[in-house]
Amino acid sequence: GKSGYEHYMLKEIHEQPRALRQAISGRIDEFATSVDLDVALPEEYLRSVDEIQIVACGTSYHAGLYAKGLLEPHADVRVTVHLASEYAFTEDRDPWRTLVVAITQSGETADTLSALRDASRAGARTLALTNTLGSTVTRDADDTVFIRAGPEIGVAATKTFVSQVATAALLTVHLGQVRDTLTSEAATELLESLRDLPGAVQQVLDREATIKRAAETYTDSEAFFYIGRQAGYPVALESALKLKEISYDHAEGFAAGELKHGPLALVTPDTPVIAILTEEAAAEKTIHNVKEVESRGAPVIGVTSDPVTTDVASTFEIPSCGPLEPVVANVALQLFAYHVANEKGRPIDKPRNLAKSVTVE
Ligand code: F6R
Repeated sequence: GKSGYEHYMLKEIHEQPRALRQAISGRIDEFATSVDLDVALPEEYLRSVDEIQIVACGTSYHAGLYAKGLLEPHADVRVTVHLASEYAFTEDRDPWRTLVVAITQSGETADTLSALRDASRAGARTLALTNTLGSTVTRDADDTVFIRAGPEIGVAATKTFVSQVATAALLTVHLGQVRDTLTSEAATELLESLRDLPGAVQQVLDREATIKRAAETYTDSEAFFYIGRQAGYPVALESALKLKEISYDHAEGFAAGELKHGPLALVTPDTPVIAILTEEAAAEKTIHNVKEVESRGAPVIGVTSDPVTTDVASTFEIPSCGPLEPVVANVALQLFAYHVANEKGRPIDKPRNLAKSVTVE
């Protein structure tokens, strides 16, 4: 059941600290220096990989974009992220040096399964990141890592997104160690961030009332823009997807730097702009974009762990949490989407036209 929550989505948002603890349980050593992820693909093979191709749809695709930002620098490997429905294994790739990673909560998404089969046929090795034991993807892929989020009933993916990113961070450390590309400082920074994540997410959940109040002031808005850089960019895409699915309002996520190349024309006093201000150097640049939209009269909400130096009229304060802080921002924006939609009386757990698992191409 819904354990007293009005919707499964809200219950699942609140389950995130636990889901995250499960994702890392037994997988990080007590000194936060190494991981034990039980990856069956041979280490010799993992050392020889020169490109990882991630295939996924929807929210899982956003987790894939986040994963790229973790894997590329720390596992020193080229990562390309593909919408599964647009994927094709191309001739220019050496299948022996290409690892294809399918990210899929359900393990049953037709587009993702079909992309994975295409890669397998070409001779590439495949790895699934999934939530679902016994799902089709676990049979199709050469190897599986489970994200351990527990069952997700609400159509909008919430806890499975954060668990996918957490598991991608573990995979990053695993690959970085096997490939000897990860410094011990970077390993510790990532693993400490992972260990802090459940507590940081809990702190955001404890501030739900503030986020709900903010959401209530925007229920007349019909278009929302989300901007972010680096990992804040996939979080902007994901937060916009969440809002559009459950509120039926128009919402778009943009790379903050792209605003001035077109989307700025849409910005008016009627379009709230939500700025993900995580990762200091990225946030400093995004603040310039915030100024641009503020001067067009748009109301701005900045999501930040540093509201004092941020200087945005309205902020959601989140605890700082190292490289995974954008995940914490995402949780605040899940709550924002939920409360905007709930204020409008939308059928949050079963939005019109959508199904939990999409088994047709
Ligand atoms: C959005 C959502 C969908 C799924 C997508 C992929 O909230 O749930 O965009 O993320 O259909 O599903 P999986 O991860 O099961 O392959």
